[in-house]
Order: sequence, then structure tokens, then C-alpha cells
Amino acid sequence: MIAPARAAAFGVVRRVFEQGAYADRALVGAAAGLDARDRGLAQRISYGTVQRVRTIDHGIGALASRPVADIDPPVLAALRIAAYELGWSEAPAYAVVDDTVELVRGAGTRHATGFANAVARRLADGFRKLVEELPPGPLAESYPDWIYELWVRDWGAEAALELMRAQNEPAELVVRSPVPVGTPTDVPGAYLLEAGAIEPDTGRVWQSRGSQLAGLALGSRDGERILDACAAPGAKTTMLHGEVTAVEVHPGRARELAENVERLGAANVRVVNADVRELDESGFDRALVDPPCSGLGVLARRPDLRWRAKPLPELQLELLQAAASRTRPGGLVLYSVCTLNADENEAVVDASGLEPDSLGGEWPQFTHPKRPEFLLTTPHRHGTSGFFIARLRA
Ligand SMILES: C[S@@+](CC[C@H](N)C(=O)[O-])C[C@H]1O[C@@H](n2cnc3c(N)ncnc32)[C@H](O)[C@@H]1O
Repeated sequence: MIAPARAAAFGVVRRVFEQGAYADRALVGAAAGLDARDRGLAQRISYGTVQRVRTIDHGIGALASRPVADIDPPVLAALRIAAYELGWSEAPAYAVVDDTVELVRGAGTRHATGFANAVARRLADGFRKLVEELPPGPLAESYPDWIYELWVRDWGAEAALELMRAQNEPAELVVRSPVPVGTPTDVPGAYLLEAGAIEPDTGRVWQSRGSQLAGLALGSRDGERILDACAAPGAKTTMLHGEVTAVEVHPGRARELAENVERLGAANVRVVNADVRELDESGFDRALVDPPCSGLGVLARRPDLRWRAKPLPELQLELLQAAASRTRPGGLVLYSVCTLNADENEAVVDASGLEPDSLGGEWPQFTHPKRPEFLLTTPHRHGTSGFFIARLRA
């Protein structure tokens, strides 16, 4: 029998590469019915395979003596999983090879079992060594060249390598909770959990320390009018005090936001399904702007993102300006993005012309190394998602 976690991972990898699915969403269906241990294993194998696919395909191409593009998609999915497990896990090679053949047999590609068996055996013998001999860089760490080059530009080659490596590891498991649970962290209300420890209940939200920091740094207070300009799914919305207007342009995401607001009992939040650039309301005391971004700080959590990420500085500037123009003079605007890219971070804030309200003194451990008025959480230095956070005066 094929190991259940491996079978589930096979389903996820096929959906990601054959149908363009998001790995985290595909996992929910594929892992339904597995126990917590197998679910964790299925996540590790499928996320690792999707993240490392550039290195994996390089190895398969070299060892299969056939271009990867010429391999049937289900056969390629089974070989990619095999390469991941043989390269980065302690799974026994015989079990990986046997299950690779069975996955291929069961996927309607029976004709390819001999090929799959031969390639899986060659991977078992030579893939780890092949990877170890690659020069340090984006091929060895499995990133698109442009992301590596951007991080070298912003932080230098050594930090770029550390960033790539950190986001190939599982992300921290942190929950936001009103009552203590697990291990307290350096962000109030954020608790670190062991894998599989608890499921979030109505009062808890899975949310990285970097994301929680962005919600806290706005400093919202009871009695104030607050605009959350880009609100869904609402992880930060439901942290805010005051009378919150939570705006979301996408109808499906606005529904998800409303459900989360209700689940968490955030009676101070009103959801508005609209484009914030057209919102007919103003005079807010504070605004949170958490716009779409390339997500280069959350690549550990979203394994397929590195293959589709796009910087969005023009949209980010428009959304920041839309929120600032709806905030009363002297009010505060918090701009946060889950990316590590100066073009979407400090360059957008600089282009807005808004004056920074310095955050570095409030959270010294997260001070931006080059711009101390801002915060920057990073996977390689802080072990959390990468968030750029700026508080600005409207
Ligand atoms: C990074 S997500 C926000 C995450 C959210 N703040 C949280 O903590 O859960 C960005 C959101 O902005 C929404 N968005 C994009 N353009 C928008 C616009 N013009 N007006 C309002 N919302 C917008 C997207 O649909 C997306 O849901």
C-alpha cells in the first residue's frame, strides 16, 4: 500500500503543476481524512516538492537522460516527489522507489512504470550528491533568478542565500490568542506551538508574529474611527480597536472576511465590499493599508508563490494614497506588506511623500537595518514571515 502521506502529496503536486492550484488549498482536500501526523508529513512532502522543483527538475533532467518537458505529468509528479524525499528527508530509499512505481501505475500511466523505476533508482543513487555539488545560489536553493538577484541588490549575496534557505524550511507555527497557550514570544498575544498541538478555536487565529506586529503597530484605540483599506481575510482587521470600516474589493474575499469577523465576534467591524479608491467615506483617525504584494516574505507558507510572484508598486502607491486621503489631517496611516523588496517597501512610502512616524524605538528588535524609522521582520533573522511596516502621518 502506498504511504497515505505520499499519496496525498502526489495529489497536491499534480494539482499545483497540472491545474495551477495553490498548494495550501489543494492540501486541504488531499489531506482530509489523514491523521495529524500524516497530514503534517503530506504537507512537508508536497510543500517541499513544490518549493524545490527547480533543483529537482535539474536533477531529474540530468539523471533521466530525457528532458523533463517530455515526461508525462503524472510520472513527473511521482518522480518529483521521489527526488524531494530522497534529497531532503530521511525516508528509506526502497520505500520511496516502490511507492513511486505504484503511484505511476495507479495514475493511468502503467506503460511508464519501468521508466519510473529506473529513474527513481538513479535518483536514489545520485540525486543527493548532485545537489550537494551545485554552486550556492538560486539553482541549488530552487528560486527564480530574479528573486535572488533582487535580494543580492538589497542585502548582499550572503543574506540572499540565508533568506532563500530560511524560506525553504517550514514556517513558524504561531497563534494569536487572547489567553496564554503554547510558548509566549516577543510579540504580545503571539504564542508558538508545536506542530499539531491545537486547532484554532473561535478566539484564536493562525498568524505569524510579523503579521501580528503590523496589526499592533497601527496603535488603534477604542473610540477612534479606523479604516482597514485592504482587509480580507481579516487577520489584522480582527486585532483592531475602535469603530472599524473593513474594505475589501473582491466579493468572495469580502464574504470570507465577514465570516471571520463573525467567527471571532468582532462586533466593532463593519465589512464594506468596495474598491477603497472609490470609498465615499473619510475623516478616519487611523488607516491600515495592507495591499497585495509579491509576498517574498511568506514563501515558506505559500510554496508555489515563488513561481508566480509579481511586484506591484504602482497599485500599492495608489492604495496608500487612497487610504491617506481618507484619513484626517494629523491621523496615522500604517503601510504593511509581506514582502522583502525595497521597490514595494520603502520606495512606495517615499513616493507617497507622507512623513514617517518612527516605529523603531517601539520595537527595537524589529528595526529596519537601513531605515530605522520603519520595521522589517525577516525569516532569516527573526524566524517569522517577512513584513515591512511603516507608520506615516496623513
Ligand atoms: C494582503 S491582502 C490583505 C490581508 C489582510 N490585511 C489580513 O491581514 O488578513 C490584500 C487584500 O487587498 C484586497 N484589495 C486589492 N485591491 C483592493 C482595493 N482596490 N480596494 C480594497 N481591497 C483591495 C485584495 O483582494 C486582498 O484581499
